[in-house]
Amino acid sequence: MTRHDTVSLPTGTVPARFRPPTGSSDAASVSLDGAWRFRLFPTPETGADPADRGDGWDTIEVPGHWQLAGAPDAWPYGTPAYSNVLYPFPVEPPFVPDANPTGEYRRTFELPEGWTTGGRAYLRFEGVDSWFEVSLNGTPIATSHGSRLPTEIDITDVAVPGENLLAVRVTQWSALSYVEDQDQWWLSGIFRSVTLEHRPEAGVAHARVLAGFDPLTGTGSLTVDVEGPTGARVTVPELGIDVAAGETATANVEPWSAERPRLYDVIVTAPGETITLRAGFRTVSIEDGVFLVNGAPVKLRGVNRHEFDPLRGRAVTTERMLEDVLLMKRHNVNAVRTSHYPPHPHFLDLCDEHGLYVVDENDLETHGFIDGGWTGNPVDDPAWEEVLVDRVTRTVRRDAHHPSIILWSLGNEAGSGRNVSAMAAAVRALDPTRPVHYEGDWSSDDVDVYSRMYATSEETELIGQGIEAPLARAEADARRRQMPFVQCEYAHAMGNGPGGLGDYDAIFDRYPRLMGGFIWEWIDHGLTRRDADGTEFAAYGGDFGEAFHDGTFIADGLVLPDRTPAPSLIEVAAVFAPVRIDEVGGGDALLVRNRYAFRDTSHLTFEWTLHHGDDVLSSGTLDDLRLAPGEETLVRPPTDLPLPTADHTPTWWTLRAVQHTADALDEPWFDDAAGPFVVSTGQVAVTLAVTQPVATGRAHQAVDGTVTVGHARFDARGTLIELHGRPVAELRVDAWRAPTDNDRREGSWTDLSDESVWKESGLHLLAERKISAEITDDGAFVVTARTAGPRTRNGFRAVYTWRPVADGSDDVDLHVSILPEGRWGQSIARLGVLLVLDEPAADDVEVRWHGLGPEESYSDSRVAAVGGSYVHTVRELQTRYTHPQENGARRGVTHAALRFPDGSDLVLDANPSRVGGRSVTGVELSLRPWSDAALDAAAHPHDLVPDGRLWMHLDAAQHGLGSAACGPGVLPNARLRATTAEVSVRFASRQG
Ligand code: GAL
Repeated sequence: MTRHDTVSLPTGTVPARFRPPTGSSDAASVSLDGAWRFRLFPTPETGADPADRGDGWDTIEVPGHWQLAGAPDAWPYGTPAYSNVLYPFPVEPPFVPDANPTGEYRRTFELPEGWTTGGRAYLRFEGVDSWFEVSLNGTPIATSHGSRLPTEIDITDVAVPGENLLAVRVTQWSALSYVEDQDQWWLSGIFRSVTLEHRPEAGVAHARVLAGFDPLTGTGSLTVDVEGPTGARVTVPELGIDVAAGETATANVEPWSAERPRLYDVIVTAPGETITLRAGFRTVSIEDGVFLVNGAPVKLRGVNRHEFDPLRGRAVTTERMLEDVLLMKRHNVNAVRTSHYPPHPHFLDLCDEHGLYVVDENDLETHGFIDGGWTGNPVDDPAWEEVLVDRVTRTVRRDAHHPSIILWSLGNEAGSGRNVSAMAAAVRALDPTRPVHYEGDWSSDDVDVYSRMYATSEETELIGQGIEAPLARAEADARRRQMPFVQCEYAHAMGNGPGGLGDYDAIFDRYPRLMGGFIWEWIDHGLTRRDADGTEFAAYGGDFGEAFHDGTFIADGLVLPDRTPAPSLIEVAAVFAPVRIDEVGGGDALLVRNRYAFRDTSHLTFEWTLHHGDDVLSSGTLDDLRLAPGEETLVRPPTDLPLPTADHTPTWWTLRAVQHTADALDEPWFDDAAGPFVVSTGQVAVTLAVTQPVATGRAHQAVDGTVTVGHARFDARGTLIELHGRPVAELRVDAWRAPTDNDRREGSWTDLSDESVWKESGLHLLAERKISAEITDDGAFVVTARTAGPRTRNGFRAVYTWRPVADGSDDVDLHVSILPEGRWGQSIARLGVLLVLDEPAADDVEVRWHGLGPEESYSDSRVAAVGGSYVHTVRELQTRYTHPQENGARRGVTHAALRFPDGSDLVLDANPSRVGGRSVTGVELSLRPWSDAALDAAAHPHDLVPDGRLWMHLDAAQHGLGSAACGPGVLPNARLRATTAEVSVRFASRQG
């Protein structure tokens, strides 16, 4: 037996075969999942006898991680720890620390009668993290590793009739930890299923499925190689195929694609065993540098998915897997990269069935070697070759029968070197039908597609045109230029973001060479923790007291840990929509584009409504609109529409592409019960909100110097102290926000983070100094002020002009003009006014608003925002990001009626704002029951407590989001720089 700290192949295991999954065979099997005896020891030298049954030990659930055995309340066996790149132990491969928590597992099983006489008995482990030794009836029989890979052990000769004692020793750290340095929680144990399997005599030892499709003839071809007995047959009843194993059969078939995931039952019958596989006919190819599925160019609109459950870690349930797949399908995701290891095999079954293109990634990452210039990287060390080749071949052999897999990936962030070539060669030898992917070597010597992560949109555009910077080696450069390009990671969805997704998507569409990409990442890996007082929260790095960790960087998903879609997933659905409806032509037409590769739009109805706020004025369907794959057309609103009198609410003509029913065979993901599925929405404003007529009333000054403007009351210095009977805590210009995770990092193209630039100008500590306050001859109350932070000469001069709408009216108009003074950096966070009102129950304030919604949106994340009328409480307007930060902005707001818990109302109507001379619709409205400073200071959502005030931002503009947490910052088209701005709002009251 080998030790955990050696670089050597598994011992005592069965060499990997093309072995279809456990459930596909009619041979008997017994699940060994459930309660096992367990003890945790501080080192691998546990002293525990493999013959010890573990009576009196604890019990633990298999599959599971020992660190999460008591989650969310207790951590009896050590805690999870999060590190991204660097190893949490000294780098001295293959050695790992002596302090190496080691779990001893025990359970007994009954060997079913006849298993070892008529055939053989196998133990199959689907995943054990990280190194393990298996003993049966007191005798060590195998050691293995490859945490996310299966291990099979033939126990026929050691198993006894009746009861058998199975002992498994699992170390947390091993030599193999050096090649499993993925950006995730370190979690150990038997975390996937364990099965006892019968392999009958004359059964199927190996079945390799090749199912291709020729788009020119519509012919599918099927070859199933079988190892084992002679005389095995392959049948596909639906196609009338019945051939000997190894023979190629052809038939007219419906091909498999993510759009139409057509599967056929392929039955492999050997004398001793029958295996039923679900096969799909499809061919992946690269022609003229373009990536094709079944002969058609396909764009991958994908996500990176780690396996994760907030209570169970990587021991995900089949329900969670299905939830992920359905959420992806319902948000127009068509591809998934299994970052950064082969997923649970059932996940791939679901991708086959529901239709997702998969990049299946090998269990390999050595990123920590980057600290030291990749010296000693296993990927370039001959001593590691057979271990790494073993891993990738086990991946291919386990998964090759899945039609959903369109690329093999050799691993992630493992540098470059000789073993990349060895792995690529091994993959090609096993499966020549799929291109090979690996991002870690930009020269792309060993791969078939050029892959990068977080390339900026500018660079992506150059690559799209084939004019990217050349490689030093001419032949490598020439070869790479012939390859399609994929962003295996882009658009980092950490916290509030990513911004700029729509920009990337447009570039992918523009150039045939670009095959799309995979957003980083699908799930926020916040682990549920319940504190003594019962408060549950999503924990990130450091929350378990880790001394060495990477903090919030683990919280970067499109779905929150409990699978609540973050606003970014709503944006993804709109950007990735296979049928896009976009405003063009100066805003009077919609371009409808069918971006399916294989489907026309006949399964969709195009439904339009003409609506003014909530009021639907008329509606209809565009019955003649039917687009072939790749086709597009311009659509205009009918000209004879009954338009209402223009007021503060725009009138929208909104067109939706809606799927009402599943296309029975192909769309098991479609849920009739969930109602119609809106694939895409686009709209044009047929009438804009009108600008309020100019106010004509006059302000009044009392003898004590206080000023009254309608319902607004000021002290003698011009400080607003009351609005509509409600005490005002503050009114001033604001230019800061609680930095997002993206704001906090410098990104790939700036030297400074936005946050640091804002701090430099003191934006986080702005305060106002009044300069003057006077009633002008024409009756307006004009207050001038300067708002600035400490130590800087930078600041904003503001002129507030107040006026009652008419004499005797309570309603008030406020016009604010803002002029930046000083020398400003690359960006500011926002430009507008902050109004803080006393309100003890601010989160219960309800706001009915007209604008772009219903979710938050930002200038570079707004494709999903639809003009309309929405109602939210202030509580509902907050997005509970795992790590609190700026959130909740609603853009293009022309009208907002706030109803306070006491029944009073405050109604705001916004005229167009101006930013740097440009007019924009309404204001960007944010409402919070706490300050931005509190939001910034909070480590977790439950730290945020309403402070008795309603914090309201009325902004002319806000800075975009970008993707600087990992990748480029905010693009110039969404960057807010210090500039002149104007905000103009009418405050009216209504009693409820
Ligand atoms: C990439 C890496 C991912 C993840 C991401 C940042 O470099 O491949 O695993 O760490 O950065 O969240």
